[in-house]
Amino acid sequence: SDRAYVIDEMISAKAIAARIEELCRNITDEFGNTDKLVVVGLLRGSFVFIADLVRELDLPIEVDFLEASSYGDAMESSREVRILKDLRGAIEGRDVLVVEDIVDTGHTLNHVTHLLRSRQPKRLKSIALLDKPSRREVDFRSDWIGFEIPDEFVVGYGIDYAQRNRNLPFIGKVRFTG
Ligand code: PRP
Ligand code: MN
Ligand code: MG
Repeated sequence: SDRAYVIDEMISAKAIAARIEELCRNITDEFGNTDKLVVVGLLRGSFVFIADLVRELDLPIEVDFLEASSYGDAMESSREVRILKDLRGAIEGRDVLVVEDIVDTGHTLNHVTHLLRSRQPKRLKSIALLDKPSRREVDFRSDWIGFEIPDEFVVGYGIDYAQRNRNLPFIGKVRFTG
């Protein structure tokens, strides 16, 4: 997009790190008896969150990735979730944690969890750093959520606006100035 904008900090890097520590204590409790937890990151938005998350998990894990895209470069969900890259490994009979940056309309994580559940994992849970419940279009709730946020266009910590700003260390909100 060519509209001018600035980014205002909404959730600091420090607040994110503190919340991840809390969440990881809960996840470690839940999967404490696992032989191996397959941690599945949804590309591309989750790449920062999953990196911080797995380093706080005191569990035997394996990392895999799946790419599902609904937004492309647009600001609106296409509501049509496409699998652009599937998992490398099989998850039948395994413990699986799906890691996502944000749940907005819910189409992406809803579609992906249905797909993965059809492969009959032993346990399947999901975690999203951010949740925008006011935007939900399908009945979906993640098992763990970092922060519930209002309906603002957010970027940073993996989240893009037209593929930019994923490398910001904090969550910021986009404010259009032009
Ligand atoms: C974004 C975001 C979530 C999804 C959430 O991904 O990273 O995956 O949209 O929206 P929803 O709940 O309305 O489906 P995007 O499709 O932009 O791909 P990206 O992760 O590569 O940026
Ligand atoms: Mn995404
Ligand atoms: Mg995106």
